[in-house]
This record gives sequence, C-alpha cells and structure tokens, in this order.
Amino acid sequence: MVYKDLNTSPRILLGPGPSMVHPRVLRAMAHPLVGHLDPQFVYLMNEVQDLLRYVFQTKNEITFPLSGTGSAGMDAVVGNFVEPGDPVLVCVNGYFGERLCDMTKRYGGELTRIDKKWGEAFSPDEIRKALLKKNVKVVMIVMAETSTGVLQPLDKIAEIVHEFGALLLVDCVTSLGGVPVSVDSNGIDIAYSGTQKCISCPPGLSPITINDRARQVIHNRKTKNPSWYLDISLIECYWGNERTYHHTAPISMNYALRESLRLIQEEGLDLRFIRHKENAEFFWHCLSEIGLEPFVEEKYRLPSLTTVKVPVGVNGDEVTKKLLNEYNIEIAGGLGELKGKVWRVGLMGYSSSKENIVLLTGALSRILQNT
Ligand SMILES: Cc1ncc(COP(=O)(O)O)c(C=O)c1O
Repeated sequence: MVYKDLNTSPRILLGPGPSMVHPRVLRAMAHPLVGHLDPQFVYLMNEVQDLLRYVFQTKNEITFPLSGTGSAGMDAVVGNFVEPGDPVLVCVNGYFGERLCDMTKRYGGELTRIDKKWGEAFSPDEIRKALLKKNVKVVMIVMAETSTGVLQPLDKIAEIVHEFGALLLVDCVTSLGGVPVSVDSNGIDIAYSGTQKCISCPPGLSPITINDRARQVIHNRKTKNPSWYLDISLIECYWGNERTYHHTAPISMNYALRESLRLIQEEGLDLRFIRHKENAEFFWHCLSEIGLEPFVEEKYRLPSLTTVKVPVGVNGDEVTKKLLNEYNIEIAGGLGELKGKVWRVGLMGYSSSKENIVLLTGALSRILQNT
C-alpha cells in the first residue's frame, strides 16, 4: 500500500475547537528541534511561563503547560487536590461539570454536586447555600461551558469559597485568551486550560496555574498521588529552576505555544477581549438577520462560543455536514442533552473575525433556504 501525501482541506474552523492557527504558529512548529534540556529550550520554558502568567493575569510561580490536552489539565488538578475521602463541591450546568464529577469520584472524592439547568449560570448565593450545608476542601466550576455557551460570572465566588476555607478550582479551557480570566483578581486558586481554543495553538498542551496556598495543599498530601505522570509536585521540579528530568516536553508544541502567546501579547489582552466580544455581538446580530436565535440569554452568553437553536423541522447534523462539505466551514452540533437542539459555533482566537462570521451566516442562510 502506498500512502499519498497528506492533503487536508483548508477548513475554516468555527467549531468548539480546535480554532484556526496563525501562520506564524505553524512556522514556529517547523523550527528544528533542540533537546529538551538544551539551554535554548530551558530559556524558552521560562519565556512560556512568563507569557502564560500574562495571559492568566497572575503572579503564580506554578504556571506552566502540562504535556497533554485540556483533559490532562483537568485530570491533573482533580487528581492532585482530591484524595480519597476528601469532600468536594462541583457546580454542574453542562457536560464538562459532569466530567469534573466523574473525575472527582475516580480519585475517591466524596462528591456533593449542585445542578443548574443547561444554559444557566450559578449565582454566588447558590454556592454559599451549598457550602453552608457542607464543608468541602475544593469547589470546582467551569467558567466557559463549551457544551452550553454559558459564561459563568466569577465575582464574589472566590470570596465565598475562601470564607468557608475551601479552594476554588476553575476550568478555563474555553475562556483563557478570549475573555478575562484574571486569576489573581478573581481569587482563583487553581485553573487549567487548553491550547486549542482562544489561544489558537494546536491541541496538545494544557496550561495550568496554582497559587501558593493551593501549592501547599499538594505538598501536604496524606497519600501519594496515584498518577505519576500528572503529579504536579514532580512536574514543578521540571518546569522550576531545578529542571529535574520528568518527561520529555513536546518541543514543537512549546514552540507553537510560545508563538501563540507572543501573538496575544502583541495584540494586547484587553484589545483581544474587546475583539472577541465585538465579533460575538456582530455574530448574534447576523444570526437575527437570518432568523436564527442564540440558546443562552444575552447576559450569560459566552463570546468565544455561541450555541444557536436549531429551528424546528431542520436536521442540525445535515446542516453541519453541508457546511463542511460544500463550504469548508466547521461548526459542531450539541453535546449531551443539547444534542440535535443546538449548533455550537466557536469564535475563538484567530478564528474570531468579521470575515468568518459573514461567510458562516451567508452559507447557513443559503443552506437553510434550500432545506
Ligand atoms: C470546558 C472544557 N473543559 C475541558 C475540555 C477538555 O479539553 P480537551 O478536549 O483539550 O482534552 C474541553 C474541551 O472541549 C472543554 O471545552
């Protein structure tokens, strides 16, 4: 069997990730490899950490990319902070909150969950009420629920969580680099993300950040972390000054991440947040022009990912297939309980542009007219 040269189509990626990648990032990935303990790579590791601190808006020393996708970051933070029998509160209003529950149980945590309808956000009071009923070690919440398109406001949440002596763990996979995460000013103790969403880098790394209070909790564990690969107390010696060998960092992915973060710094975080917000608003306006409607009410709508109601009588999957096959545009269908009911449209990082929005709504309108 002779395999042909790789020949993928030039897709316009407007799904829930990966987002499109700037040509500079692709060029960075093609740079010749150096060894992972080469002084040049060691220097690059420092730069990546500094740039990540800028994007997370934190001074946390423990800020680095784990080698693995966003789920590796999720697995790592849950596994490092949840020991058997530890009480944990998870706020669930979508698919990824469910996954946090699953992981908590796998690590033997004693799970309490509060649930909210998919498409809604939690109020600080709801979290306070749950904490009044039960003292927990960690409160977990998803800031940008990719399954529903809800942006969870974080004001006052850390204050309440800390009042009850717990740690606040936040999933920032679909927010980091697109909406303000502000780790330090929001009082977030533990956060993880992924590279393929608003950072606009290929999937493969999971940036995490942990403050000193939470770091002490890892250092004072009663039991040994059951995962060797994701044990943050080991990985921090690899990314810290010691540079003790732990695993071989994916060199080219770190080249790519450095370049994507450099692009974010060049644009400026504030202007980037404005671009995401303005483009999302433009998209919502274009949707109304073609008779479509977002699923989430405007005040909780996430700029980086919009869920759009599939009109009655329309087969959502057929529309996504046509968009891909006839127009080279990728969007996605609903996940979990929203399967068949919504489309998910990501306007993240390099994908978030007026041109893409006009292309997508034009194509969508043509397809819907002919179905
Ligand atoms: C909110 C959220 N958390 C976690 C993940 C898991 O990340 P990954 O698919 O990179 O493993 C995703 C992926 O879509 C996500 O949207």
